[in-house]
This record gives sequence, C-alpha cells and structure tokens, in this order.
Amino acid sequence: MITRIIGTGSYLPEHIITNDDLAQIMDTSDEWIASRTGIRKRHLAKEETTAFMASEAARKALEDAGIGADKVDMIIVGTITGDYITPSAACQVQDKLGAVNAVAFDINAACAGFMYALHTAYAYLQTGIYKTALVLGAENLSKIMDWTDRSTCVLFGDGAGAALVQAFEEGSQWASEDETMGKTRGLLAFEQGSDGAKGMVLNCRGRQNNNPLIENPFVPSYVSMDGQEVYKFAVSTVPASIHRVLEKAGIGVEDIKYFVLHQANLRIIQSVAKRLKADVDKFPVSLDHCGNISAASVPVLLDEMNRKGMLKQGDKIVMSGFGGGLTWASAVIEW
Ligand code: COA
Repeated sequence: MITRIIGTGSYLPEHIITNDDLAQIMDTSDEWIASRTGIRKRHLAKEETTAFMASEAARKALEDAGIGADKVDMIIVGTITGDYITPSAACQVQDKLGAVNAVAFDINAACAGFMYALHTAYAYLQTGIYKTALVLGAENLSKIMDWTDRSTCVLFGDGAGAALVQAFEEGSQWASEDETMGKTRGLLAFEQGSDGAKGMVLNCRGRQNNNPLIENPFVPSYVSMDGQEVYKFAVSTVPASIHRVLEKAGIGVEDIKYFVLHQANLRIIQSVAKRLKADVDKFPVSLDHCGNISAASVPVLLDEMNRKGMLKQGDKIVMSGFGGGLTWASAVIEW
C-alpha cells in the first residue's frame, strides 16, 4: 500500500498584526521579537473560528486534489483550540464540507498535532480500513494567550493547514487512474514520542471545576511557558527524532530536499540545521509572517511550498513537529 499526500490547503486570518503594532500596546519592540525569534508579523483571528479556518483549508486541499468531500473517509484535526469541547473541530469541519461519509475526531498533541494526526491517518490507510483522509492542523491560539504576558503572546498566531492523504494499492485499477503512481512511494517512515513528565514547561490549564464544593471557581488560564526549557527540548529532541526517522526510511540527511519543521523560532530551526549538518537553505520558513501557529504550522508551510511549485515528484522531504505535552513527531515522505 502506498499512502500519499495528494492535495494541500491553508487559511490564514484576514487581520495581520506586525511587531510594531504589538509595540503600540505592550512594552516590546520589533528588534526584540525579530532578533530572538525571526517573527515579524502574525495573523490573528477576529471573526474566524477554528472550525471555519480548518474547513477553508480543507476545501482548498480537496480542490487541489480534485476530490469531492463525499470521497473523504476520515477527518482528523490536530488542535488545542477547538471552538467547542464538543462537538470536535473535526465534526464541525465534516458538517461545513458536507463530508457525510467521514468519521471525524480531533487530536491534542499541541504543536505536533498535525504530525500525530498524519501518523494516525497513515495507520488507518495502510491497514486498508480507509482510503482517503483529510488531515488538518488548526489553531485559534490568540484566544488562549495572556495579552499582558509579552514573553508568550508575541510568539503565536492563528491559522489552519490541511493535507488530503490517500492510499493506493499498488497495481490496482484505482491506482492506475493516477499517472504518477509507481513513480513515488509517498509516506516512507514515521517517528514520534511524548514526555509527559516535562509537560508543565508549556501548559494551558483547561476549564476548572465549578461545582458547589468549589469556593472560588472560574480562574481563567492562559498559555504559560518556560521559554528556555522549551528551547532546550526542541534543539535536542528534533535532530534526534529526525535521525531516527531517516534511519527508519533507510536514507541520509544528504538525501533530503527540504526539512519542513514546526515554525516556533528561527533560532531553533538554525540550531537543528547545524546539529544535522544540513544546509540551512533546506529549511523553508513561514514563521516570519505567521508566527507560531502550533499544529497548523507544518501544513501551512507545506501548502505554501506546494503552491510555489517547490515540491517535485520524487523529492524526499522531512516534516517534524514538536511542542506541548511534551510531544514530537517526524516523517519522511517522497512527494
Ligand atoms: N519584548 C521585550 N522584552 C521581552 C519580551 C518581549 N516580547 N519578552 C520577554 N522579554 C524580556 C524578559 O522580561 C526578560 O527581561 P529581564 O532579563 O529584564 O528579566 C528578557 O526579555 C529575557 O530575554 P532573553 O533571556 O534574551 O530571552 P530568551 O533568549 O530566553 O528568549 C524566547 C525568549 C521565548 C524567545 C526563547 O526562550 C524561545 O524562543 N524559547 C522557545 C519558545 C518556543 O518556541 N515555544 C513554542 C514551542 S512549540
């Protein structure tokens, strides 16, 4: 069975907030933010909901692949900022698309959410349970930011990205309808992990109990982060994860055309490139205009690359996500 990404899409909210805009409302500067992170602006949702952004990204992925929503067997959304506790963002997307034949659910793996969702879809597709999956990362992070905490709120943005993934049986009539079949092997290898013991270095508490036993309910909670600990985690875990996934795929760093990393911080990306002894030009960047959009960052970047024509059939690409949980996940794909 060959599992391939056959379409991509993304949606970024209409409103753009630059570092200078932030400097108008808090004690920060473009110089501080850009020099430490590479971020210059981000999109923030105003009217857009997580489900709206996700379904817009999904629509574009379906359009890119030329597939109707009725052909989708499953929808998985990586998100920590769904609009509702229930229904899930994935069920809302199903409704908005009219994807009546799909099973739909969310995955909470923070910034590794899209990669976890992709790996989950891969498992269903490779075992023949389903054929076609919409895999999304969608976040409205600005609603869980403490806008008085300049050390976190300047880092994040909102948006959604989608990949349509399909399984092809080698040699089948279904596969032969696609003229590129046989020339690419699709998703080649995955590697993922979690470290719950370090989870509190990047956290956002959920709704708290407000039953009659509680004296002071309704304490609001926002994202809280030990930036330096997260940084140390990222620059050690990501290169190790990439080495492991490359070993599983039986190829080396030199075989990779692009490393599509979670877009948290330019310094993290540069450090990962250095540790892998890979040319930093192989690490495309979108965080300059998106900020960190958690689960959405990898699929948004992938879609930007796809639409710019950067991805050619047969190119080998590494994708890697990392973040809250703590969680991480990497994949090797042949485009
Ligand atoms: N503007 C201006 N000053 C700020 C600021 C802002 N937006 N945010 C924090 N500061 C100040 C702090 O108050 C502190 O001041 P003090 O020394 O007077 O107390 C100082 O800047 C800290 O600066 P520095 O030590 O240079 O911070 P840093 O090098 O650790 O950089 C991060 C901070 C957040 C950019 C960095 O730790 C990081 O990128 N970590 C990873 C975070 C991440 O990517 N998380 C998501 C992963 S999915």
